Amino acid sequence: MKKAFVPGGRFAPAAVFLSAALGFATAISSPAASQAMPDINELPEGPGREEVFYNCYACHSFRIIKQQRLPESTWDELMDWMVEKQAMPPLSPDDRKAIVKYLGKHYGANVPR
Ligand code: HEC
Repeated sequence: MKKAFVPGGRFAPAAVFLSAALGFATAISSPAASQAMPDINELPEGPGREEVFYNCYACHSFRIIKQQRLPESTWDELMDWMVEKQAMPPLSPDDRKAIVKYLGKHYGANVPR
């Protein structure tokens, strides 16, 4: 069983389950070696882009990030989840701040897809 991320321990938004069903199999199972080199231009320009780029591509494609729409506070919780459950190396406080701000701005709950 996959450990689905459940924001704040409450029900995950439908989008999380949907993305789990649609996105993960392909996003996660493709071995890193067969993935094209990630391109920073896959991510919209703005402060925090480089931090996301360098900290987040090691384990999965950006698709798994870009398909999400989460409030900044949930992105913040997700960073803990990534460290505790997915073995992500803890982010430096500055990187984390930049990443959470960036994700909340570009992939926030109210951002159109
Ligand atoms: C050490 C490996 C690793 C790193 C580094 C990593 N992730 Fe993940 N991430 C995972 C794994 C593994 C999953 C999928 C877990 C699953 O299948 O349920 C995942 C899932 C996700 C999901 C989907 C969450 C859900 O279940 O709804 C998002 C969004 C995400 N990661 C964002 C990020 C961001 C943003 C970063 C950079 C700050 C990052 N990840 C860095 C391992 C990592």
